[in-house]
Amino acid sequence: MSEKLTITPIGYLRCAKSLKFNARHQPNESQSETNVIELLSGDIYQKALLDLDGFDRIWLIGWFHLNQAWRPQVLPPRGPAKRRGVFATRSPHRPNPISITPVQLLEIKKNKLILGPCDLIDGTPIFDIKPYIPSYDSFPEAKAGWIDEVDAELKAPPSYQIIYSPLALEQRQWLSEKWSIDFSERLQEILSRDPSPHRTRRIRARKGDLFDIGCGAWYAVFEITGKTITILHLKPSFALKFLNDPLRPVIPDKQAQLAFRATWPECLD
Ligand SMILES: C[S@@+](CC[C@H](N)C(=O)[O-])C[C@H]1O[C@@H](n2cnc3c(N)ncnc32)[C@H](O)[C@@H]1O
Repeated sequence: MSEKLTITPIGYLRCAKSLKFNARHQPNESQSETNVIELLSGDIYQKALLDLDGFDRIWLIGWFHLNQAWRPQVLPPRGPAKRRGVFATRSPHRPNPISITPVQLLEIKKNKLILGPCDLIDGTPIFDIKPYIPSYDSFPEAKAGWIDEVDAELKAPPSYQIIYSPLALEQRQWLSEKWSIDFSERLQEILSRDPSPHRTRRIRARKGDLFDIGCGAWYAVFEITGKTITILHLKPSFALKFLNDPLRPVIPDKQAQLAFRATWPECLD
C-alpha cells in the first residue's frame, strides 16, 4: 500500500463566505443561506447525480484547503478552556484536513447542487457526495462525551451582560450601515458565556485591566466589571504597513479598515 493516495475534487463549494471567520462551526439551520456545489466535468457527474433528488440531505466530503498545520490536541471554541484530542473534535486542523457536513439539498440544476446552510467557505474542494440516510446515519441516543457536558453547561443562562459605550455603539453602527460588517452576534455569544483569555476564541488580556477579542479583521476592546462587560471601542486588526502593501494578497475588509483608521485615529492602539 502506498503511503500517499491521490484524490481529485469532483467540484468546489461556492458561497458568499470567503473568510474562515465567516463560516459557522457547524451549519446554522435557523438562518437561511444558500450554498452551491459546482461539479466539474459536467457530463460524467450529471449521470452520477441520478436519483439523488429524492434525498433531503447529503453528506459533503471536502478538504479544509486553507489549513496546513495540525496538532494532536486542540482548544475547541466552545466550553471550558481545555485541550481535547483532535480526533475527539470537529477541528478543521487535522492530519488529513477532511471535512464532513450533512447539508440540505434544495435543488439540482445540471452540474450545480443548491444547498442550505453550510460551515465551509467559498472554494472548498469537494471530493464526494453521499446521501444522508437517517436510518443509517442518525443515532440520537448515542453519547457525545465532552460535547454532552458542554451542551449541558450552555443550557444555563449566560453569566455576563454586554453593554456598548457610546463610542463603540457609534462604531458598530458605522461598520454595519456603511460596510455591512457586523460581529455583534459573535461578541454576544462568546463574551456573555466566558470573557476570559482563550486562544481559539481570540480573547487576549491587554494593559490596564483591559481585554480584546478578535472577530475576523477586527478587534473589540472591552473591560469587565463584576458581571458586566463594556465594549469600549472597536479597532481594525491589520497594521497600516500591511494595508498599504500592494504586494500583500487579499486583506479582508481592507477599505473599511483604512476608512476606520482615518475616522477614529485615537482607537488604533
Ligand atoms: C469546525 S469545522 C467543522 C466542519 C465539519 N462540520 C466537519 O466536522 O468536518 C468548520 C470550520 O472550519 C473552517 N473552514 C471552513 N471551510 C474551510 C476551508 N476550506 N479551509 C479551512 N478552514 C475552513 C471555518 O472556520 C468553520 O467555522
